Amino acid sequence: MITMDALRAQFLELYGREPRVFSAPGRVNLIGEHTDYNDGFVLPMAIDRRTFAAAAPRNDKTIKAASTNESGRIEFEIGREYSSGHDWGRYVFGVAECLRRDEFDLRGADLLITSGVPIGAGLSSSAALEIGAGFALLNVSEQPIDLVDLALLAQRAERQFAGTQCGVMDQYIACLGIEGHALMIDCRSLEYRAVPIDLENARIVVCNSMIKHDLPAGEYNQRRAECEEGVRRLATYLPDIQALRDVDIDDFNLYAGSLPETVRRRCNHVITENARTGAAVEALEHGDLTRFGKLMYASHESLRLDYEVSCRELDLLVAIASRCDGVFGARMTGGGFGGCTVNLVASNLVEQFITTVSREYEKETGMHPDCYVCRASAGVREER
Ligand code: GLA
Repeated sequence: MITMDALRAQFLELYGREPRVFSAPGRVNLIGEHTDYNDGFVLPMAIDRRTFAAAAPRNDKTIKAASTNESGRIEFEIGREYSSGHDWGRYVFGVAECLRRDEFDLRGADLLITSGVPIGAGLSSSAALEIGAGFALLNVSEQPIDLVDLALLAQRAERQFAGTQCGVMDQYIACLGIEGHALMIDCRSLEYRAVPIDLENARIVVCNSMIKHDLPAGEYNQRRAECEEGVRRLATYLPDIQALRDVDIDDFNLYAGSLPETVRRRCNHVITENARTGAAVEALEHGDLTRFGKLMYASHESLRLDYEVSCRELDLLVAIASRCDGVFGARMTGGGFGGCTVNLVASNLVEQFITTVSREYEKETGMHPDCYVCRASAGVREER
């Protein structure tokens, strides 16, 4: 990550003209994990770590992009096959290609990208890149877009070009994040409710397990398939359901016995997590951080035992947090199998919390966890 002035200067040096600069945030999900692709509810906030895309239009149909974080440059013609091996380049190509297929009239463009979102940490650096680059390409082509449509389009790009059958949460919050708020997103209607999160007496602290979040697409897609199998089987008894979002806990408990063991546990997680997310929003709106924190711990347990997407290091971070003074709650956040935990910590004890977690985690694993205090930030925008 370099400063915005350095980004502008490097762009000038590389391409010989002044850019416009756009940025999109990473995210942390407070609760509502693996519910988005089940038409359920999530509660993420955009964080104050952003990916910046400097951009200027070209007079041809070529897109050139370089990154200050990763090596290599990419280049492709809009509408032609792309063959570069760079992962980050595939995200830029994917979003450009989906824009073209949706008949946006894109101009060629030069791009220079710098990511302040830790890459592969489970804070959605890829969504920030897709949304930042997509928004930059649209703007230098003077093509307006509705932000929910941009989120859906970038989600499609991720599915088609990165192979994860992801939900819409990450792209949605990168587009529509609101400063000082988390958003409770209804992933079916695509509407949101803004929930104030600029808490006076508590902070959101993210701890990176440093286990590379290389979300195994196979595991993720398998969870998704197990949820779909659950819906198919439950529909024998509950013919009106379209997704696990439609199944209430009492009905589930009546029919759960008919499901294969693994599918039953996956469904149990999603159905209870949806209920926890609603309860968590209510708790936040009533200023009840103790209740909110309990729901975070319960979410982690459910992800660990029923959904099986946690790992030893994430469990350790949560266990350490639970022993620290001033912690209301802690859980893994994002897809899982590594990445970060999210912690709700009393403001006056944040420093002590970070010191203790770092010391204990390092003692057990030999790795130093990066810890960040996060502020709820705005979604994609032009920087002026
Ligand atoms: C990843 C996906 C999201 C969501 C989370 C789990 O971040 O991109 O759509 O499914 O995992 O909640």
